[in-house]
Amino acid sequence: MRTIMAMVQGFGAGRRRCLAMATAVLVLAFPLLNSVEAVPQSAGPKPPRTLEETGLYSDFATLQVDQRHLAFSPQYPLWTDGATKRRWISLPPGTAIDGSDPDAWSFPIGTRLWKEFAFGGQRVETRFLERQADGHWLYAAYAWTADGREAQLVSERGRRGAYPLGGGRSHAIPGVSDCKACHQGGRSEVLGFSALQLSPDRDPDAPHAEPRPIPAVDLGYLVENGLLVGLPDTLRETPPRIMAASSAERAALGYLHGNCGHCHNDQGSLQNLGLFLRHSSAGTVPPAIASAVGQPVRKAAPGQSPDAVLRIEPGRPDRSGLMQRIGSRYPALQMPPLGTALVDKEAIALVERWILEADQLRKEAHLQEKGD
Ligand code: HEC
Ligand code: HEC
Repeated sequence: MRTIMAMVQGFGAGRRRCLAMATAVLVLAFPLLNSVEAVPQSAGPKPPRTLEETGLYSDFATLQVDQRHLAFSPQYPLWTDGATKRRWISLPPGTAIDGSDPDAWSFPIGTRLWKEFAFGGQRVETRFLERQADGHWLYAAYAWTADGREAQLVSERGRRGAYPLGGGRSHAIPGVSDCKACHQGGRSEVLGFSALQLSPDRDPDAPHAEPRPIPAVDLGYLVENGLLVGLPDTLRETPPRIMAASSAERAALGYLHGNCGHCHNDQGSLQNLGLFLRHSSAGTVPPAIASAVGQPVRKAAPGQSPDAVLRIEPGRPDRSGLMQRIGSRYPALQMPPLGTALVDKEAIALVERWILEADQLRKEAHLQEKGD
């Protein structure tokens, strides 16, 4: 770890040049990540100019959230430089989510979702998704004024410098092409309102877990209130849970699902990379284990140490390509490639613990086999 940090600090000096270079690399690798040329919204309704007009609040002056909207909290949240988040969903009256595919729910036309980001107790932005009549999702972000009285639509290019994070870094509000780089990487564009994320069998060790709003909007609540239909009976009887050899493994796989799986899965544009970090309800071996543990790095990123031959080398976090990616904020190396400016220390400690332990678990399993 120390060598990675030293390496990253070393890169700090030429950061501006590296940024330009890294953007070029990312553009070549993955055109959607280029936020300079924002992908235009599809023709059709434009997002409202203010957050007030999206209907989140019943009274904007007192910031009273409309009580018909449901507050929810996914068990494996996305980490955004330590932002505190609140989320709400609103379904048009009389409609329900189709949950028959446990890995990709289908939301009714007119569904709205909001996600608020606060830093140091100050609201900075609220993101908004709305399903349009043609089935497409509308993406928008609203930036709060410093006095917290108003939130205005941000341009499709996003906004840099929205909140200072210290050390010369700052939180950037993503542009619409960045929203889509994360949200359109799989079959469902809604990422945190899903069977695994709302399972009543919540992971007590999930990093950055948030208190669950009351009422607890989970699978049982949604089905009982007629808001979710078609959920397979097996999921009601045995709520979804990541099957793992230890609590650290379960939490680490959950973290990778929530923070990486929207891009790294077998459906989106990155499927050929063969790194699958999204949990799947099918199969017995978690995709992240099958595609990362003991598997060779496809293409070393600029700045990656040459010892990191494998994505995950059991027992050797210092020689695991995946660790080097999450331990870096050098643009061409860092993972996730967008959405954060700081490394997630809690996640690094967890994934490191899991990789160290993975070796132990393997040896124990081997000894047991021999003993049998
Ligand atoms: C780095 C990837 C990433 C980027 C960029 C991103 N999102 Fe998300 N977003 C997520 C993930 C993952 C979740 C679910 C986990 C969570 O909420 O913590 C989520 C949740 C949401 C939610 C709550 C509904 C849901 O899908 O769970 C909304 C609304 C939302 N994002 C809107 C946006 C908008 C609008 C933008 C661009 C301005 C954007 N997001 C940019 C990854 C991203
Ligand atoms: C917005 C989409 C996106 C997200 C989110 C994302 N990645 Fe990536 N990842 C990419 C792209 C694109 C590449 C290929 C280009 C490159 O190597 O930088 C990649 C490459 C990688 C590689 C190299 C694989 C190989 O064998 O060459 C690893 C490891 C990786 N990502 C891990 C992660 C982890 C861990 C997370 C979550 C903490 C994550 N990624 C989140 C887009 C994403």
